[in-house]
Amino acid sequence: MGEDGSGARSEVGIRRALIAPDDDSNETDEAPGSPRRLVHSDWLHSYGRRRGRRLKPNQTALIEKHLDALSVTTPLDLAAAFGQVPERLRLEIGFGGGEHLAHQAANNPDVSFLGAEPFMNGVATMLRHFEQKGLRNVRLYRGDARELFSGIPDGALEAIYVLHPDPWPKARHNKRRLIQKPFLDQAWRMLKPGGELRLATDDPDYLIWMLQRVLIHPGFEWTARTADDWRLIPADAIETRYGIKSRLEGRPATFLKLRRRETAA
Ligand SMILES: C[S@@+](CC[C@H](N)C(=O)[O-])C[C@H]1O[C@@H](n2cnc3c(N)ncnc32)[C@H](O)[C@@H]1O
Repeated sequence: MGEDGSGARSEVGIRRALIAPDDDSNETDEAPGSPRRLVHSDWLHSYGRRRGRRLKPNQTALIEKHLDALSVTTPLDLAAAFGQVPERLRLEIGFGGGEHLAHQAANNPDVSFLGAEPFMNGVATMLRHFEQKGLRNVRLYRGDARELFSGIPDGALEAIYVLHPDPWPKARHNKRRLIQKPFLDQAWRMLKPGGELRLATDDPDYLIWMLQRVLIHPGFEWTARTADDWRLIPADAIETRYGIKSRLEGRPATFLKLRRRETAA
């Protein structure tokens, strides 16, 4: 992706995304402002691998030591998971190795964090951060984050992070992308007014796809004022494993910080 104005990350590229979105026929349509709580069977599979890699002995040990105490189950019961319904709660979807989740949790000890990741290797890596940083404010779900949504009350979240979601680059797989209108409707429902939905991607095509959906969603406002607002990693974040990998491969991430509006009408 060049800086000559042709890349999706450039201002020209961003403006291209303002053109009407692609055919959204795969995306179910919910009335804005009143999304029902979708159940898991409403969603398509959104993660790439079906099976995780074999666990190393130290990963197995971390899992045996910590996972039961930290795990949430579905249907999600926030009071049971955290001892009481958290006043301040954030969700990270697809935390991978958990470095961003652990960083946020360590820097915000007064906030409770829920992280979802289907693969046990990532969960085990997160548990290493958990132990090293002595975190007490994180709970983990080993599965599809969307299975948690029905247990998250309206306006319960102050932020949702979705960093480098699987890009599903083949056109016939695009419908598996996490960022779809029904997902945005749920994010809007679960976030407090003024809450943040933060997306990051290193995939130029997925970036356009995201913009085409978030910019027309009435419930979100894109807060970027200058190009640095999408080109630079947010000050409170750290680069994730995929962020580092893609940068080294010449595909720096773009960050979309979206503010949840009061209404979605
Ligand atoms: C490309 S990786 C990025 C991981 C991490 N966020 C990072 O930036 O390094 C995408 C991750 O999202 C997870 N994922 C995809 N769909 C998910 C879903 N519906 N719920 C929870 N995690 C999901 C995948 O298992 C994978 O670990």
